[in-house]
Amino acid sequence: MKKIQSAAVLTALLAGVLLGAAPRVAAQIYPNDAGPTKIDVSTYPKEMQKTYEEFTKKCSNCHTIARPINAQFVEMSAEEEAKARKEQPDLFTDTRIIDVNEHAWNRLVKRMMAKPGCPVNKMSGKRIWEFLVYDSKVRKTGANAAAWKAARLKLVEDFQKKHPADYARIFPK
Ligand code: HEC
Repeated sequence: MKKIQSAAVLTALLAGVLLGAAPRVAAQIYPNDAGPTKIDVSTYPKEMQKTYEEFTKKCSNCHTIARPINAQFVEMSAEEEAKARKEQPDLFTDTRIIDVNEHAWNRLVKRMMAKPGCPVNKMSGKRIWEFLVYDSKVRKTGANAAAWKAARLKLVEDFQKKHPADYARIFPK
């Protein structure tokens, strides 16, 4: 009897641990995860520096902050994109490296906010979205485009070698 009881308790405990942990654990892996976990924001406007702190706290609950820091997304308005396509056509050659979309970060932050246990509320989501739009343009385009391309390409190629199945899921042909 005692044995059965303790087995039942153990099973219940284990189920509790697994169920409780499930929403906070991002099971999928991304090339982004192996990249840097910091952004040098020392040249960013003061407000952006403040939001950077908020971003690193709140967006590292379920995966490391490397995931958003090393993501391919760049958000530009249609007008900005038309201009960039003329002036920086290199930005548009490989969506694994840079994926430009009018709603890229807006949609992504909303998707994260919808996940159970996400600590990002509406106001905070808006600030973080604005930070990600600004930061992506600074780090991935213009003068920093080549450095970004080299770093991101290495992450993607290493990931393809180490995790071919996940690579095929994230970048379907
Ligand atoms: C409640 C848990 C949770 C929080 C908090 C969270 N994420 Fe995520 N994130 C996930 C999970 C789970 C995935 C993988 C599944 C998916 O992409 O929806 C993911 C995936 C991602 C990806 C990869 C998506 C892709 O398609 O390449 C990025 C980028 C990302 N998160 C950024 C963020 C940002 C920015 C924040 C803060 C606003 C954040 N995450 C907060 C759970 C979370």
